Amino acid sequence: MQTLPSLTIGLYTTPYPIIQGGMGIRISGAHLAAAVANAGGIGVISAVGLGMNSPYFDIEEKNPKKRQEQFFEANRLALIDELNKARTLSPNGVIGVNIMVAARDYETLVRTAVDHGVNLIISGAGLPLTLPELTAHRPEVALVPIVSSQRAAQVICKKWQRSFGRLPDAFVVENPQAAGGHLGAKAEELDDPALGPERVIPELVSYLAETSRTPIPVIAAGGIGDRASLNQALALGASGVQMGTRFIPTEECDADQRYKEFHLNAKPEDVVLVPSPVGLPGRALHNPFVDRILAGVAPGPQNQCFANCLQVCKFRDRRETYCILRALDRASRGDVENGLVFAGSGVGRSDRILPVAELMAELVGG
Ligand SMILES: Cc1cc2nc3c(=O)[nH]c(=O)nc-3n(C[C@H](O)[C@H](O)[C@H](O)COP(=O)(O)O)c2cc1C
Repeated sequence: MQTLPSLTIGLYTTPYPIIQGGMGIRISGAHLAAAVANAGGIGVISAVGLGMNSPYFDIEEKNPKKRQEQFFEANRLALIDELNKARTLSPNGVIGVNIMVAARDYETLVRTAVDHGVNLIISGAGLPLTLPELTAHRPEVALVPIVSSQRAAQVICKKWQRSFGRLPDAFVVENPQAAGGHLGAKAEELDDPALGPERVIPELVSYLAETSRTPIPVIAAGGIGDRASLNQALALGASGVQMGTRFIPTEECDADQRYKEFHLNAKPEDVVLVPSPVGLPGRALHNPFVDRILAGVAPGPQNQCFANCLQVCKFRDRRETYCILRALDRASRGDVENGLVFAGSGVGRSDRILPVAELMAELVGG
């Protein structure tokens, strides 16, 4: 088997071109990120809603204003804890944080991450147009937007160059036709071949080669989970891959054991699209929770918005869909019947819950 190339993003080089995608809530925390970093990839902590299941937050707080303030402060403190834990577990590994532009505490989380030793910020769910400004005092931190089209990447490059005199250190291109979690395209657009990696990756690679004198790596994400799919992405011109789903049934994944087993036992035919309060669909595993959402069953009174966590939220504003924080949090704590279990279309590639080092060895052919 051919040896894989190393991956350089900004000041950081890893032996293998593999990024473990940020997965919220608490699916990729310090344990998973550190294990991937120790095995020669880039480990990524998802910053979304970390405070929710932390000692800093009490969901029973009755004063709504106090509860919201406490939630955002808990997210900040829990992110610091998670970063410190990851650094202790992986003193020399490359560790990133995934922060969603759509989160109301986006700016606070970005500043917190860069001030606590993170190597990369990976940012999607919206265009991270102000990211360089928020991180200007830490130029060593690499900045990596997530996009689903060459057009979105172009908007970011132009804005960053004009306003901040710099370009991204890499792009993650997430294929909405296969990736787990929130997708960067509407359900009715998903069949459009223009969104497929065969089109988007070569287009973006050539645009970046024209735009920048220094190479800007393109990282392919969505549906990649074995050596064959990794090789395909590299053959399209990607410099590396970002994988989420395949890292879930691992010993170090931060989710509850029942969540990992639910993933382990799932097959590609169990993967469905679900509406989400952010307005775009998500890809998840079929379960009774998804059945209720698809049937339009109204959320119960215990499901009120408690944190006002998103910039745009159909649930908060119109009582449509459901509270995404509660749904993801329930799942990661092990309630896989009543929570939302995100998954990519390539689920079911593992036959047991593996240590990350073993999975990485399988991927890199060692
Ligand atoms: C359970 C789960 C949670 C995710 N959470 C996030 C997240 O919080 N932020 C984000 O940008 N992407 C999130 N993603 C997307 C991953 O970072 C990654 O890009 C994606 O999983 C790649 O597709 P794959 O699952 O087919 O490998 C999530 C994916 C999964 C499966």
